[in-house]
Amino acid sequence: MASVILGILLILVPLPLSTEAQTSGNLTLGKSLTANDQNSSLLSPSGEFAFGFRKMGQGAHLLAIWFEMIEEKTIVWSANGDNLAPEGSKVQLTANRGLVLTDPRGRELWSSNLTATGLAYAAMLDTGNFILASASHVNLWDSFSRPTDTILPTQQLDLGAKLNARYSEMNYSAGRFLFTLQNDGNLVLYATPTPLVASDSYWDTNTTTGFQLIFNQSGQIYLTGRNGTTLKMITEDPVPTSGYYQRAILEYDGVFRQYIHPKMANSSSGRLIGWSRVSYPVPPNICMSTSQDIGSGACGFNSYCTLGDDLRPRCQCPPGYTLLDSTNEMNGCIQDFAPQNCNGSRRETDQFDLREMPNTNWPQSDYEHSAAQTEDWCREACLADCFCAVAIFGDGICWKKKIPLSNGRKDPGEIGKALIKVRIHNTTSKCTGNDQKKNKNTTLMIIGSVLLSSSVFVNLLLLLITYLLYRSFRSRDSKLLRPVQINQVTGTRTFTYHELQEATYGFKEELGRGAFGTVYKGALGSEDVDFVAVKVLATRTGESEKEFEREVSAIGQTNHKNLVQLLGFCDEGQHRLVVYEFMSNGTLADFLFGSSRPSWYKRVEIACDVARGLSYLHEECTRHIIHCDIKPQNILLDGSLTAKISDLGLAKLLMANQTRTTTGVRGTRGYLAPEWFRNMPISSKVDIYSFGILLVELICCRKNYEPKAEIEAQIVMADWVYNCYYDGSVLQLVEGDEEASSDIKRVKRFVMTALWCVQEDPALRPTMKKITQMLEGAVEVPVPPVSSSFISSI
Ligand SMILES: *[C@@H]1O[C@H](CO)[C@@H](O)[C@H](O)[C@H]1NC(C)=O
Ligand SMILES: *[C@@H]1O[C@H](CO)[C@@H](O)[C@H](O)[C@H]1NC(C)=O
Ligand SMILES: *[C@@H]1O[C@H](CO)[C@@H](O)[C@H](O)[C@H]1NC(C)=O
Ligand SMILES: *[C@@H]1O[C@H](CO)[C@@H](O)[C@H](O)[C@H]1NC(C)=O
Ligand SMILES: *[C@@H]1O[C@H](CO)[C@@H](O)[C@H](O)[C@H]1NC(C)=O
Ligand SMILES: *[C@@H]1O[C@H](CO)[C@@H](O)[C@H](O)[C@H]1NC(C)=O
Ligand SMILES: *[C@@H]1O[C@H](CO)[C@@H](O)[C@H](O)[C@H]1NC(C)=O
Ligand SMILES: *[C@@H]1O[C@H](CO)[C@@H](O)[C@H](O)[C@H]1NC(C)=O
Ligand SMILES: *[C@@H]1O[C@H](CO)[C@@H](O)[C@H](O)[C@H]1NC(C)=O
Ligand SMILES: *[C@@H]1O[C@H](CO)[C@@H](O)[C@H](O)[C@H]1NC(C)=O
Repeated sequence: MASVILGILLILVPLPLSTEAQTSGNLTLGKSLTANDQNSSLLSPSGEFAFGFRKMGQGAHLLAIWFEMIEEKTIVWSANGDNLAPEGSKVQLTANRGLVLTDPRGRELWSSNLTATGLAYAAMLDTGNFILASASHVNLWDSFSRPTDTILPTQQLDLGAKLNARYSEMNYSAGRFLFTLQNDGNLVLYATPTPLVASDSYWDTNTTTGFQLIFNQSGQIYLTGRNGTTLKMITEDPVPTSGYYQRAILEYDGVFRQYIHPKMANSSSGRLIGWSRVSYPVPPNICMSTSQDIGSGACGFNSYCTLGDDLRPRCQCPPGYTLLDSTNEMNGCIQDFAPQNCNGSRRETDQFDLREMPNTNWPQSDYEHSAAQTEDWCREACLADCFCAVAIFGDGICWKKKIPLSNGRKDPGEIGKALIKVRIHNTTSKCTGNDQKKNKNTTLMIIGSVLLSSSVFVNLLLLLITYLLYRSFRSRDSKLLRPVQINQVTGTRTFTYHELQEATYGFKEELGRGAFGTVYKGALGSEDVDFVAVKVLATRTGESEKEFEREVSAIGQTNHKNLVQLLGFCDEGQHRLVVYEFMSNGTLADFLFGSSRPSWYKRVEIACDVARGLSYLHEECTRHIIHCDIKPQNILLDGSLTAKISDLGLAKLLMANQTRTTTGVRGTRGYLAPEWFRNMPISSKVDIYSFGILLVELICCRKNYEPKAEIEAQIVMADWVYNCYYDGSVLQLVEGDEEASSDIKRVKRFVMTALWCVQEDPALRPTMKKITQMLEGAVEVPVPPVSSSFISSI
């Protein structure tokens, strides 16, 4: 009887799902959902869970189930994390195979592979389970029995079931870690590739009769035996249930955690409420839990794991090593120096030194050990041995470790001290390991590598000689004496005025005008392919002369992916020109405030690019540089939209010990830190302030100062952002920007970071390195302090 009524209902109520944004109800045979810019999803009867497509980036959609009623819209299940669906893909309910996800060309991306027959409809249930059922409501397939990385109350894991952690916080591809109830009755956590022996798991219940893992309605997670008796509680603490959503997830860092979230997020109270962890994570300290024979451990090879105050593991590189992939700290580290030469007489023992790290170890990476030794003996032994990458000394025992190092950890529980071998005169000039620059100019490269590969002493000598030569050339009338094409002090090429006149076709195509000159487009070489930007500096006045020297010497020594590269210069009589690499996509100002809004993810990348460039200028290159004029007009975009900082013209060079200095006001109003107007010392923190304003503009895609804004409160963006943050209405900032709205956690993190940057007290503003980590999500962003005179400081 009921099924007859249902049948009638289904006939009477056609569901045009592919056109309607959000629907609550069931998916009947033949119906589909389409991945497009509208919300296309199916809601559970209570509206708390949704099934449908989530946009992961430009034209990439994930078929997923998520919590619909909370701001984060947290995903609890997903189908195609390894194979995202392009715009226009659809998932259809078919009679013989159940759900089938195809791209617009009809290629299959994923399928539920239903084998049972009699399928009638699909429904999103209030528990968060998505089911395929027959007309008589027999459950033929459900998402609960095919979990991805999350389980929900009332869900259970049977023998053989697995949770597979995702690749990273925002990447739903399968990651390394698995949580599984094995057929032998043991519940284990391990890292792939699958270990050969059970002891290679990093956590287990050590049970032989486990039968089901249950997450019950009251929020308890426990393992039961075949007869229903509880064998082991997995999360111990009592959990508040009424008024809270719950989930438990094997996170990308390999830790299983249980979370709750209040059902009605009360934003009017001004608090930012989100998911909070309940109970202890499993395992409590993953850094100390891993010690398999095979695999890298909790972090990637050559890195080490530390447990933060928030009980989350962090992966870091030891001194002398840099991240293999700067976007994922869990991918391990590589040495940023050439390894020791093992060949006979030239062992290079004098070229290496040991850096100490207390309470640090890489278990399982040793190839030799000696007992009853002193630390000095251990040091000598490792330095003399070209295979030794790290020595661990503790309790009179000296362990020698080889590359790649695995299971690294730094923890008070480790009593040994690590001695890390590094090359003393690390001959690479790159500031960060993965920012090697592909230099177009081969002449430069050859000269550069000759310089770099010879020993440091020879280098210094060479530099000194060249400098002296350079000085003496300059002091005379040097026109005839300049056969040298490459300036070895700055590493840049010298051009003649005539060359540049030809390169720019007589300064025909103007690219822009800056405070100190006009920029023209040009081409080097006969093929007209290597475009350059030639900046003609205004006539020789005292100011621009100083300007010129500053510009050339500061920029000539920088080399970073996120800085516009200086290729050379011309200093001939009245003529002073500098040659930069050409940036085909113009300024960030045009890009950001132009007619169409750039995507949120592009803006995120740009923010990180600029942060890395600044971080290099402030902290990593040999002479620390303050830019003084960070603003969207001074950020340029290359062919692949990588952001690069330009116009270091105002840069104030800082010697290492001279970090604070008072100078005249430089830079551009609106982006200027308050200390410029208060006769206070100027430090690199002025750039942090300007970066904060730039970040606000990147988040909201609007100019910081907009006198024509419709809503008065929005005239000064930074004020508005500040108010929105403390009102708990961050979502307002990205209103109408769906990508950003669906990435609200990151938006919030960026807003908090920006608010730290624009603190009135320079000492409160974090360093650029810290900011980079905040943006990348490598560190938690603390709540920014309330700044009482916030408005007056803009
Ligand atoms: C969906 O199907 C279930 C099971 O037959 C039924 O209880 C429910 O009322 C249906 N919902 C709608 C909106 O048709
Ligand atoms: C998507 O859904 C949200 C709320 O769930 C709504 O505010 C928004 O307008 C919807 N967008 C479209 C394009 O339907
Ligand atoms: C469904 O079957 C196809 C072909 O056998 C297979 O490639 C695919 O991985 C299966 N999908 C799932 C979700 O199991
Ligand atoms: C996720 O990570 C995998 C593995 O590195 C990579 O192949 C894939 O492109 C990433 N997906 C996205 C959307 O970034
Ligand atoms: C696991 O259980 C066996 C016996 O059931 C016991 O001998 C062994 O010590 C246990 N191992 C751990 C790590 O608790
Ligand atoms: C959930 O499990 C705990 C511990 O076994 C038990 O005390 C509680 O009554 C269970 N709740 C429900 C709703 O079954
Ligand atoms: C359930 O099985 C376990 C062994 O698997 C046994 O120790 C226990 O007594 C059994 N409990 C009941 C109620 O049968
Ligand atoms: C939200 O906050 C307001 C004011 O603080 C309060 O009156 C209201 O009851 C709260 N609502 C909920 C659902 O907590
Ligand atoms: C090598 O140089 C880079 C930058 O110059 C630096 O970050 C790194 O720590 C150096 N490595 C060692 C072993 O000193
Ligand atoms: C090792 O050193 C000897 C001379 O010391 C040299 O002839 C030989 O080519 C070197 N071998 C390698 C592989 O560098």
